[in-house]
Amino acid sequence: MNQKPVILTGLRANNDLHIGNYLGGLLPIIDMANQRADEYQINLFVPDLHSFTTRINHATLQESIMQNLRVFVAAGLPLSDPNVHIYRQSYIPAHSELTWILDCFTGYGEMSRMTQFKDKSKSSSFTEESTSTSVGLFNYPVLMAADILLYGAKYIPVGDDQSQHLEFTRDIAQRMNNRFGDVFIVPEAVTAQHEFFGKDQGLRVKDLSDPGKKMSKSDESGKGVLFLTDSPDVASKKIMSATTDSLGSIAYNKVEQPGIATLLELMAFLQAKDVHDVVSEYQGQEQYGPLKTAVTTVVTEFLTSFQTKLAAVDDTAIMHKLADSEAAMAVQAQNTLLRVQRAVGLRP
Ligand code: TRP
Repeated sequence: MNQKPVILTGLRANNDLHIGNYLGGLLPIIDMANQRADEYQINLFVPDLHSFTTRINHATLQESIMQNLRVFVAAGLPLSDPNVHIYRQSYIPAHSELTWILDCFTGYGEMSRMTQFKDKSKSSSFTEESTSTSVGLFNYPVLMAADILLYGAKYIPVGDDQSQHLEFTRDIAQRMNNRFGDVFIVPEAVTAQHEFFGKDQGLRVKDLSDPGKKMSKSDESGKGVLFLTDSPDVASKKIMSATTDSLGSIAYNKVEQPGIATLLELMAFLQAKDVHDVVSEYQGQEQYGPLKTAVTTVVTEFLTSFQTKLAAVDDTAIMHKLADSEAAMAVQAQNTLLRVQRAVGLRP
């Protein structure tokens, strides 16, 4: 097993990444990579096989994968650090192989209860003609469990939408360990993840036009989603037309004023401030316009600087790092897979 505890996350490649992914998924792990990479192994990967669980444009998948990797670098991932690894899931066949084995120890009912499956299966079909949901969408959490367990990852920054999948990962790991001996390292539970990353609020950036739900790249309209590639102009329009309320007094109340809460949080996260410090600046103001304008300034400054960094990313450096990481991670993944194959009787 690996010596250093592993911190791992995957960011899907089939859609543009947005500020919610940046604050919730990327920043926590990149902060760790910059501050504590000597104590941990950091795995940041592109779950390209997961892209097919919803319908995508296959012709642009390669470009989306590259774009995601560039985003990692622009967000500050230190490529030269030997404890940091970037890789594409499909380049390491052990992910698919372990998924099949885990599939055979996963209950049909268990998967049917996954709330993300229940939500998405209503709206997604795998062909244009049919309304049928793919088996891939159904067993997507099993592939995710394999992604985590192959490297014995302990820490995974998870938003609310992924908590249930992480719990499932723990369940299947414990189930296999109980039955076959200690084959897997069990990742930490959701609350311990939030404590470890200390940024759980960042994991919950809400949609601007529908502050009841999380900002999500799968959202079709994209009206309430701030993409990392949005021009300042597009971003300003989304912020200025963000849904608020008619109470006419600014307060930080996620239940009664979820839209205002989202704006206050965005200000705080992007400036790395405590949300309560931002709140005290605006508390009680009767006009919402000035808050929106201030958020627009902070967001557009962030986007401009991020996009400048993104344009300067060196693709060759990424390609070299991918080759190194994929070779190293294939060895780690293969070791785990072999341990499992032996435990279940597939290898002597
Ligand atoms: N399911 C995650 C998402 O949709 C992406 C993902 C795939 C992932 N495998 C993972 C995240 C493993 C963390 C760990 O956002």
